[in-house]
Formats: sequence, structure tokens, C-alpha cells
Amino acid sequence: MRIITDIHEMQDDSLAARRQGKTIAFVPTMGYLHEGHFSLLQEGRRRGDRLVLSIFVNPAQFGAGEDFDSYPRDLTRDQEVARRAGVDIIFAPEAKEMYPRGYATYVDVEGLTDTLCGRSRPGHFRGVTTVVCKLFTVVQPHLALFGCKDFQQLAVIRRMTTDLNLPVEIVGMPIVREADGLAMSSRNVYLSPLERQQALALPDSLRLAAAMVRDGEGWAEPILTAVRARLTQEPDAVIDYAQVCHGETLQEMDAITADSVLLLAVRVGKTRLIDNSYLRGD
Ligand code: PAF
Repeated sequence: MRIITDIHEMQDDSLAARRQGKTIAFVPTMGYLHEGHFSLLQEGRRRGDRLVLSIFVNPAQFGAGEDFDSYPRDLTRDQEVARRAGVDIIFAPEAKEMYPRGYATYVDVEGLTDTLCGRSRPGHFRGVTTVVCKLFTVVQPHLALFGCKDFQQLAVIRRMTTDLNLPVEIVGMPIVREADGLAMSSRNVYLSPLERQQALALPDSLRLAAAMVRDGEGWAEPILTAVRARLTQEPDAVIDYAQVCHGETLQEMDAITADSVLLLAVRVGKTRLIDNSYLRGD
């Protein structure tokens, strides 16, 4: 396993691999790897001849007052996880190389980014699409793997890839959960033991909603009322949003169909958690 920090070295390496006919699988991350990332790496390993993992805490996707400075970092541990997953190259550039003095180009996906997390985190997706587009240019992957926990992010990246005709297959991978149901996230480390307990209200709400649909509920409104009631039982939980949306367009839906996804963003103490689930497994 090699660690590359230089953009040109990474790009030259990928272009050479492509010339040799190798399929490049790519997992972009901000590090502090957990089992969710591991599942992306495993699938990447299975599908690519060469597996590239990027670790870059992208300043452009954090707003003022967000957790850029405190975002957890542990490159030594990440290298261990990467080695275990069979990663060939870790690409870990410095921020000043990705965004040198005078940097002025951004990628902005319209519409899809106005709702949900885009509403409470203005500029966040512009930062995500900009860095992912740059990483695609540098790493030159044939396929890139993303987790479905960041549901809106995945939809936005798919839109960007289609709109800009980027020759990259986008692969969405299922959410990986702790044994008690909490979705894996690098930010879970912020939770105190009491908050960690309260955070289970998110997967609980998803289960509650799925049970209502199984029992015949066909409308979003009663489901959202029940979900909000469940979430606000927790003293430290503040709902950012709880919405039923169409899985591709992210438009809000009144009636439940096979395309309906329940999307949640909840602050537990100072930690903002997201989770989601399709309401009909069929
Ligand atoms: O999902 C993440 O970790 C980040 O948003 C990504 C896709 C690596 C871009 O910085």
C-alpha cells in the first residue's frame, strides 16, 4: 500500500494504470474510517484491479461554526483499516494543494441542493461536488463508491456525474449499522454515553415508520407525526428535518410509494446525525 500526497503523482499513476487496462475503483472519504467505509472498500476491492482511497477533510464543505477543526482524524488507524481492506493507494493531499492561493472554481448542482441538508448547511454541497469533481479528475476512477447514509449527497453526486458526463460509475452502498441500529458515522464519536442512547431514536423512528407502512398506512403525514413524536421524546434531540421524499428527485411526497424515502436529520446535543430508509422494501 502506498500513500500519495502529490496531486500530479496520483494523476500520473492512475493514467498509467489505465493505459495498462486496469479498472480503478475509488472510495473518497474524510478519514476516521469505520465499518461503513470498510464495506465500500470491500466492494471496491471486489470490483476494481486497483483500489484507491482518498482521505481529505475538505474545508470547502464545512460552514462557519461547523466542526472542521474538531473533525476526528487518525491517519495511523486509517492506514490499518485500509491495509485490512486491501487498498493499493491512499491519496491524502494537503488542503493547500487542493485549494491553492487564487483557487476560484466551484461545481454547483442546482435544485437538489436547496432542500434537506442543503437548507440547513448552505454551501455544503457546493463544497462536496467541487471536491468530488476534483478527486475524479485526479484519481481518474472507473467507479466510485459512496454510502447511502448520505442519501442527498449520493443523489447530488449522481446528478453532477450525469450532467457533466463524467465517465465514472457511481455505486451506492447500503447503510452499515452498529448492533443496536445506530448508523455508522465518524461523528458518532462526539456523542456522550447518554447522547449515544438518545441517538437510537433515529433508527427507532425508521423502524416505526416502516411498521406503519407494513400495517397499511399510505400517507406521509401520520407517519411524520409519529416519527416527530418519537424523536422529541429524547430530551437532547432537536429535529432539523423529518421528511418523506422521492428517492431520485428529493421532492416531498404526500402518498407513500415504492420511491418514498424517510429522511432524518437530528441534532443530539451538539452532534448532527442523519439517517434514512426507503419506506417500502418491495
Ligand atoms: O461523504 C464524505 O465523507 C464526503 O462528503 C466526501 C464524499 C468524501 C467529500 O468530501
